[in-house]
Amino acid sequence: MFDRQKRGDRAVLVLPHSRGEGDAARRAEEFAELARSAGAEVLATIGARVDDANPRYYIGSGKADEVAEAARAVEADLVLVDHLLTPVQERNLEKHLGVRVVDRAGLILDIFAQRARSHEGKLEVELAQLKHLATRLVRGWTHLDAQRGGAIGNRGPGETQLETDRRLLAVRVKMLTKRLEKVQTQRGQQRRSRLRNTVPRVALVGYTNAGKSTLFNALTRGSVYAADQLFATLDPTVRKIEDLACGPAVIADTVGFIRELPHDLVAAFRATLTEARDADLLLHVGDAADEERARLHRVVDTVLDDIGAGEVPQLQVMNKIDLAGAEPRIERDATGRPVRVWLSAATGAGVDLLRVALGELLGGDRVQSPLHLPLSAGRLHARLKAAGAISAEQVDEHGWQLRIDAPRSVIAPLSGGEGAEAMLLRELLSAAG
Ligand code: GTP
Repeated sequence: MFDRQKRGDRAVLVLPHSRGEGDAARRAEEFAELARSAGAEVLATIGARVDDANPRYYIGSGKADEVAEAARAVEADLVLVDHLLTPVQERNLEKHLGVRVVDRAGLILDIFAQRARSHEGKLEVELAQLKHLATRLVRGWTHLDAQRGGAIGNRGPGETQLETDRRLLAVRVKMLTKRLEKVQTQRGQQRRSRLRNTVPRVALVGYTNAGKSTLFNALTRGSVYAADQLFATLDPTVRKIEDLACGPAVIADTVGFIRELPHDLVAAFRATLTEARDADLLLHVGDAADEERARLHRVVDTVLDDIGAGEVPQLQVMNKIDLAGAEPRIERDATGRPVRVWLSAATGAGVDLLRVALGELLGGDRVQSPLHLPLSAGRLHARLKAAGAISAEQVDEHGWQLRIDAPRSVIAPLSGGEGAEAMLLRELLSAAG
């Protein structure tokens, strides 16, 4: 059902806009990018002024004729409308145009379906697709050949299933919801146990196409999928960053933000951002060459606030300085704390400065020091080990020679009480300053 067809869908884009609506060119480019992300070949683009929505087609009927003509001329098999359509409008348009019509919600859902990688992500997307399609069930599919080609809008829950029975769909939605709840509980538990680990966690956040995946690669020298496609990363991907002054850290990539997400997908999208809430530091990536970056920055911050990640410290990254004509540098606040790093993830210029800033920000409260434990301190050794505070160790007949590397907040709770072991840790903490 999720199979892609080899040939891309031949698509005509319809871009409705209303009076006084700004940034039309940007919206058009973003929508075309979405279409290409879904595998469509964009053959024609038609703007449509819509001040009062036509209940029949959403766009005016004269415009619908124009679209029909264009679709015929380029032999399109798909028309993508950059707006949410009611099921009735979608059906009417399909009848009028004789090709498949997919609205903005359907298109984004399609991309999510292609990109979801984790079990949870897949469940979330299928659930959202079923809910979205359930509202369209009434229409039947008789007005178009059920076996028609093309992939976009046909992926996910297939039409044959849709045609069977609304009740079956409801059962499936219920089952998926239950499964999702279970997966989410499990994931919460996993996250908590990861949190007990002492390695600092960094999460990349930012508007779609800002360059998060590219930066993720540059920092981890790995090969996570990064492409000029929106939503290259629906599910957080986590990797280790080595060679920071503070010791290793882990970094999570998250799915990019985009305006006008289909309502049912907002929850799924936010669930992919929980990594951000649990992070010690957010790398908020922006496109330095984008004139709209300040507004996009606020959009991201608002969502972070909503999901409870508003308090997590941020380091801003101004990416794509190669396009903006800026030099790599670290901006600092009055106390000398790094607040913004200008770099190019693609050329690598300034990525070393980001490492420096990360080392400073994450290393601030770390205890890094050797520690000798006598063999009688086996219990403390076990507790330090369980807390992940030991980065290296050797043992001989005199005891353990350890290298401690952990945030102060991990060591401090182990240093209470009267015993000799607690004393050792208190000494360690005071020596670390
Ligand atoms: P989403 O997954 O959609 O959220 O995108 P993202 O933020 O992960 O962006 P991604 O890393 O996929 O980069 C988007 C596009 O920008 C790709 O074509 C990159 O090659 C390009 N890009 C990223 N960083 C730079 C840069 O520093 N300079 C230039 N010129 N292009 C860059």
